[in-house]
Parts: sequence; structure tokens; C-alpha cells
Amino acid sequence: MSFIDWHPDFSVNHDDLDSEHREFIDAVNRLRSGLFEHRPKESIHELFEFLTRYARKHFEDEENLMREIGYPGFEQHKAAHEELLKAIEAHELHFRDGRSRESAELLTFLLKSWLVDHLLGMDRQYGYLLGHDAS
Ligand SMILES: [Fe+2]
Ligand SMILES: [Fe+2]
Repeated sequence: MSFIDWHPDFSVNHDDLDSEHREFIDAVNRLRSGLFEHRPKESIHELFEFLTRYARKHFEDEENLMREIGYPGFEQHKAAHEELLKAIEAHELHFRDGRSRESAELLTFLLKSWLVDHLLGMDRQYGYLLGHDAS
């Protein structure tokens, strides 16, 4: 059973970015399973690295789209991406240090700051604009 399931309400009205968000949710589900099943550190690390790579690529893709459509909240959104990147890098460092007790904190961060506040909050604001323009 997945920790988080994709829901149509998560859509930002853009197929590629919706696919990237689905990938993010899959990665969080895999990471959570890995942590709960006490998989070897190496395999957890791979899942973690995926999230870091995903973040960089996805944020770039979103920023390019926002530039293209002249999104008015661009600067604020870009700053939020930078904050998220800093936070994930900090979590990665903690993980490298072998602080396994940070796991729960990492999952809370991914759920709260990334999924709820960012994807369902800020990302859906540009999504609204995309949906509005298309209609
Ligand atoms: Fe996003
Ligand atoms: Fe975003």
C-alpha cells in the first residue's frame, strides 16, 4: 500500500509537470518503504539521490515554464525552490552522517513542506493559471 496516492486534485494542468509530480510521489513512497523495511543503507541512499536529482531537474522545468508564460509569482516561487533544495541537501548530509533518527523528520519534511505546502500550494497556483488560459 502506498503512503501517498496521486489524486486528480494534485494536477497543475500540464502533462509533463504532472508526470514529474507523480514521479516525486513514487520516489517518496519508495523511500518510505525502504526506511520502514530497514533496507541496506546503500539502497536508501540511491532513493535519496533520486529525490535530489529529481528536485533539481523538476524545479528547472517548472521555472522554465513560468518564464515562458510570464508567471507573476516567478521570483517568489523560485526562492521557495531554492529553500527546498537547501533543506533536502541538509537532510542528505544528515543521512550521510548516519543519523537514522532523522528519517521521520525527512518524511515529514517531504510531506509537509514539499507535497502539501509546495505542490498543493504554490505549484497549483501556476496550475490554476494554465487551466484558466486553456479554457
Ligand atoms: Fe513542482
Ligand atoms: Fe514548484
